[in-house]
Amino acid sequence: MSGAGLRDHLIRLIGETGPLPLSHYMALALGHPEHGYYITRDPLGRAGDFTTAPEVSQMFGELIGLWLADRWIAGGRPAPFALAELGPGRGTLMADALRAMRTVPGMVEAASVHFVETSPALREAQRARVPEAQWHVSIGELPALPLFLIANEFFDALPVTQYQRTERGWCERCVDFRDGKFVPVLAPVAAANDKALAENVRNAPIGSIAETCPAATAIAEDIAARIAHHGGAALIIDYGYVKSAPGDTLQALRHHRFADPFDAPGEADITAHVDFEALAHAVRRGGAAAHGPVEQGPFLIALGIAARAERLARNAADPQKREIETALARLTGAEEMGSLFKVLGITPPGAGAPAGFA
Ligand SMILES: C[S@@+](CC[C@H](N)C(=O)[O-])C[C@H]1O[C@@H](n2cnc3c(N)ncnc32)[C@H](O)[C@@H]1O
Repeated sequence: MSGAGLRDHLIRLIGETGPLPLSHYMALALGHPEHGYYITRDPLGRAGDFTTAPEVSQMFGELIGLWLADRWIAGGRPAPFALAELGPGRGTLMADALRAMRTVPGMVEAASVHFVETSPALREAQRARVPEAQWHVSIGELPALPLFLIANEFFDALPVTQYQRTERGWCERCVDFRDGKFVPVLAPVAAANDKALAENVRNAPIGSIAETCPAATAIAEDIAARIAHHGGAALIIDYGYVKSAPGDTLQALRHHRFADPFDAPGEADITAHVDFEALAHAVRRGGAAAHGPVEQGPFLIALGIAARAERLARNAADPQKREIETALARLTGAEEMGSLFKVLGITPPGAGAPAGFA
């Protein structure tokens, strides 16, 4: 039902205004207030469309919690402080992180937990795991306090703008509705603001595709400004690339398989890879220090995931032991999540490299 509602809405919009910028299409497909993908469902897990690191194993959230605890101690144990997560999914990461933080006297007592989440379905799941949280629709609503923040697979869901280089210059990619299908088309005139592209991307050959994510850089800059001003630290974890580069990374997942992003808006998870170089620039513009990005596998290993897995396996029955081994390989293996996923750390300016970024 939601898919049909969104399809009709998009067809009407395109009929009235012409082809939609890709970013507009992606924002509506994911976040339309009635029919958007994230608004209508819990997409995580085996029965959904994808699985994320915190859903693979409790070790992930626990280690993130200990990383934040280390930063909280390094920052002089500020109290009170805001413990925030962007796009918390089912609340699993925060629940695991809070359990690990309880080993640090005074930390959880000093924290107010804040979730930035737009999905009513996922808010319900989060409430079941972290009932004390306060919910917000945007980062602008977070309190003016020292900020300790995590965002796992949040930035990849933010709408990207795409351009293609033509003889006429960089033209924006839009979405039209033709012959009963949504299809990508190019705007007839060159975009005025190709200065938004990194220099090496701007000079890419004719035919190249470039992506920007203005929402991502704005949010990263806001996080950085808060941390520079009030203190704190943040981790941004996502799949993406270390250096800005041309390329089309738009993709859709449905029932754990790749799908066409234009096939069934509202029914598939549409994402784009995160440009970590652009995020690091935004962090510096916001006045904070950016660390990394480093690959998720080496990051988790540096934080001690192997020892944690061994400890968990010690008292486990054989089937659970195998599950722990599989989860460890999945989170850290280069062929699995270990190298595609990157971790960017944010600290106040002048702080040394935090754990995992040495
Ligand atoms: C891929 S899921 C990741 C969930 C969780 N972080 C995890 O690792 O399991 C993306 C999350 O971001 C939320 N989300 C997507 N776009 C958002 C937006 N514009 N504002 C707030 N939350 C958003 C989704 O509802 C969901 O909770």
